[in-house]
Amino acid sequence: MTEKRAQFATRLGVIATTVGSAVGLGNIWRFPFEAGVHGGGAFLLIDLFFIFIIGVPVVCAEFIIGRHTGLNIRGAFRKLAPGKSWGIVGYLGLLASMLILSFYSVVAGWTLEYIIQSMSGFGGITSVAGLHGQFDSFATSDIRPVIWTLAFLTINYFILARGVQKGIEKMSNIMMPMLFVILIVFCINSLRMDAATEGLSFLFKPDFSQVTPSIMLGAMGQAFFSLSLGLGCLITYSSYFKKETLLLRTAGIMASLDTLVAILAGIIIFPAVFSFGLEPAAGPKLVFEILPSIFMQMPGAMLWSTLFFILLFLASLSSTISMSEITIAYMTDEFGFSRRKATAINISVAMLFGTLCALSFGSLSEWTICGMTIFNLFDYVSSNILLPVGGMIISIFVGWVLDRNVVREELITPDSSVRPWMVTAVITCLRYIAPLCIGLVFIYGLI
Ligand code: PHE
Repeated sequence: MTEKRAQFATRLGVIATTVGSAVGLGNIWRFPFEAGVHGGGAFLLIDLFFIFIIGVPVVCAEFIIGRHTGLNIRGAFRKLAPGKSWGIVGYLGLLASMLILSFYSVVAGWTLEYIIQSMSGFGGITSVAGLHGQFDSFATSDIRPVIWTLAFLTINYFILARGVQKGIEKMSNIMMPMLFVILIVFCINSLRMDAATEGLSFLFKPDFSQVTPSIMLGAMGQAFFSLSLGLGCLITYSSYFKKETLLLRTAGIMASLDTLVAILAGIIIFPAVFSFGLEPAAGPKLVFEILPSIFMQMPGAMLWSTLFFILLFLASLSSTISMSEITIAYMTDEFGFSRRKATAINISVAMLFGTLCALSFGSLSEWTICGMTIFNLFDYVSSNILLPVGGMIISIFVGWVLDRNVVREELITPDSSVRPWMVTAVITCLRYIAPLCIGLVFIYGLI
């Protein structure tokens, strides 16, 4: 470990990297497909509840732990509660980050394939049916998805090995604003489609008769996944924050931008789903089947499509980098490994599991546990179990165990923009609301 811990250089850097971690496939790929499977509007509403009422306070809790200790997820709990078993969160987080990195890299690998496909104009295929067939035959083949998964992880290795500021911060600063602009262009395009109203009412009109415990569990998992919450990613990132970083404001901006991107993605996808007469509940392949069909109808299709998949790839990269940083900070802090060595170990394990996940659309599609393929299982266990459990333990820890003065000190800012009632609200949520809601949804959802 270097003597002085690395820090993010600027305020924009802090926002760009935390938003960079949050915004990724979770918003543009996972949100539309989960909302599609779970009936649209009601799912969105529950997701919003979990993001703003439960998520923001728990994000603050992770920031408080990370910045106060300046340590990795395991070290942080050891410092704050020596000799106690709170550190178990650390192990859950390490496991979750590895599972997520593995399946996430497969989808990120798809974006690489689609960059190439876009540049070749999808081999001249323009029909919706043709484009769907093309995705299916790609994803169910074995070699290409595996190669792209491994290629994506190799790129991660090179960026991560360069260290915090040079690699992560610079990339996020340029990429995030570009992503917003391009999403807005695509939204305008989708809003002009024939079935725009139908698509929008699917997304925004909640049908509460459809709400089941498993939808609530899904929406809670989506909220945690999308905020990169519950696995110590934000503890790790905030250990690089400066004393002046405003935690509550950073959490609020992060949650708002994250939600905005997910909603924009929904506005892009659902009008198209209905215009093309497709099923919103198509699952993980939804977005990859729909997007090319949307682009092919726009003037300058190849250019838009290429640009979009490059941005989606970069957004995935800034998220996977933040997942890996959990394990890398852990190994460098706790075992004194060099950054390179820690990165190499982390990426190699992900390559192994990632290959299994990639194959679970092809030759391993019959390998199922509880009816789920390896890919789906990794997603379900991490998002719907490990992240909420981690988030619950973190909120109980900060709400009940951590010295109240530490919480206040970290949240209150010299410019008095954070009012005392806000701090009280965060603490109340961490003590009562978050553990109770997470616990109930979790128990009902699993039963
Ligand atoms: N929040 C990221 C996304 O939405 C995924 C992620 C999960 C990143 C967990 C880090 C940790 O794509």
